[in-house]
Amino acid sequence: MDHADHVRLIRDGVAGARSRWLELGAGEGAFTLALADLLGPTARITALDRDQAALRRLVADGNRLFPGRALTTLRADFRDALPAGPFDGALAANSLHFVADPAAVLAQIRDGLVPGGRLIVVEYDADRGNRWVPHPFSMARFRAIAAAAGFSQPVEIGRVPSRFLGAIYAAVATNPSGPA
Ligand SMILES: C[S@@+](CC[C@H](N)C(=O)[O-])C[C@H]1O[C@@H](n2cnc3c(N)ncnc32)[C@H](O)[C@@H]1O
Repeated sequence: MDHADHVRLIRDGVAGARSRWLELGAGEGAFTLALADLLGPTARITALDRDQAALRRLVADGNRLFPGRALTTLRADFRDALPAGPFDGALAANSLHFVADPAAVLAQIRDGLVPGGRLIVVEYDADRGNRWVPHPFSMARFRAIAAAAGFSQPVEIGRVPSRFLGAIYAAVATNPSGPA
């Protein structure tokens, strides 16, 4: 997948959203750059990952390709406390499949979202993992996980075939209420 594919996958989830976003497991920034592109010059993105080297590459590419976007990186484990926000949106692309209980992480994300704030998830459409993707969850199962974390029913916004585990989908859900 290239930048245009990343943009296409998440576009409908970002359209019309405000600018403050948190990304969990941003890695080298493939989807951070898509988000920066879609949000435009007012983007304010906090990109979190436990891999500092990956975040350094993300910043270098972000500054080169989208200079002027407010891009903050945070080396952290997303199973621990998350930045308080408030955020207008959160993105987790190919990262929640590293945790056995994604609903717990999603509930924490929701606490930092404004009412109506978006959650975009990009995942393999599979419920059986392997050593590289230990805990994927299908679009069907994401509906239950999102509900357990207090989100609205997710809507699928994109899908690409994948030789690895069949397909990758993108889905968006919203936070129906504000922080507790
Ligand atoms: C497969 S990469 C995906 C990177 C990027 N989102 C993308 O789609 O290209 C997964 C990323 O999640 C990060 N990650 C996995 N578990 C994490 C955790 N518990 N806390 C923070 N980052 C984590 C890894 O360090 C890695 O950069």
